[in-house]
Amino acid sequence: MFAYRHAFHAGNHADVLKHLVLIQVLRHMALKDKPFTLVDTHAGAGAYRLESKEARKHAEWAEGIGRLWERRDLPPAVADYVAQVRAFNGPGRLQAYPGSPVLAMQLLRADDRLRLYELHGSDVPLLAEQVAGRRETGVMQIDGFTAPRAELPPPSRRAVLLIDPSYEIKTDYAKVLTAVREGLERFAEAVILVWYPQLQRLEPHEMVERLKATAAARARKGWLNVRLNVLPPDASGFGMMGSGMLVINPPHPLHATLQQSLPVLVQALGRYDGASFRLEQLAR
Ligand SMILES: C[S@@+](CC[C@H](N)C(=O)[O-])C[C@H]1O[C@@H](n2cnc3c(N)ncnc32)[C@H](O)[C@@H]1O
Repeated sequence: MFAYRHAFHAGNHADVLKHLVLIQVLRHMALKDKPFTLVDTHAGAGAYRLESKEARKHAEWAEGIGRLWERRDLPPAVADYVAQVRAFNGPGRLQAYPGSPVLAMQLLRADDRLRLYELHGSDVPLLAEQVAGRRETGVMQIDGFTAPRAELPPPSRRAVLLIDPSYEIKTDYAKVLTAVREGLERFAEAVILVWYPQLQRLEPHEMVERLKATAAARARKGWLNVRLNVLPPDASGFGMMGSGMLVINPPHPLHATLQQSLPVLVQALGRYDGASFRLEQLAR
């Protein structure tokens, strides 16, 4: 079984970028009355205690959400992200971090559907417990890369697909590409969010270039790519320098929102002078 456990990384700089973008996309989807489906292909445990031994091991959250938690001078989308984490914690200090399924529960309307795929035998019961009682919700212990075939097009013909693998296995890069191609073949209007790491390796870069070409050919509304670099390359050559989100069929206002938000994330989360962001788009 897989070694990756998101509990070690919850709330780190990569989660900040991913969840900020996810929240903005879900807010945009909720502007129309018609219900939509959110498919989370790699859902994790749903939420994480920051005092657990896993989260304390490297305290990655301290360099992520921890750097934004007390700030009052944030642009609206960053403030919105912090408010969602606060909503999950309740009053007081930062003790827990909501994963994508819990953020979705906080933002989806009663009729919006939530489809959660997770393979890890320890995470599935925790995930099921987090979302228990919500209508229109399914937890599947099934390979999330099969989700586009199973879920698209959705009944209401409005869908968001979050693809957030750990990339622990190199073949994940090719599987993401196949999943996106299948998703767009079945439903060209799907809003697809792909998280990827920024590494000193070619695979993420090549995957993103191929995803852009696929989206350019098949997606109705093009793509947007945002990348946040927070650390320099390390000597081992294996460290994560930052991460990115490729959004296919992005909501129109997302570019402007991120243009306003990313300088603050660079300033707050950057750990060296070269920290930076990059935002690019193929608009239609
Ligand atoms: C990066 S974590 C997900 C974090 C979550 N999306 C969030 O934002 O809170 C990746 C998860 O994918 C799970 N996983 C790995 N391979 C999978 C697969 N083929 N299908 C579904 N889940 C998988 C891992 O067990 C892990 O919990």
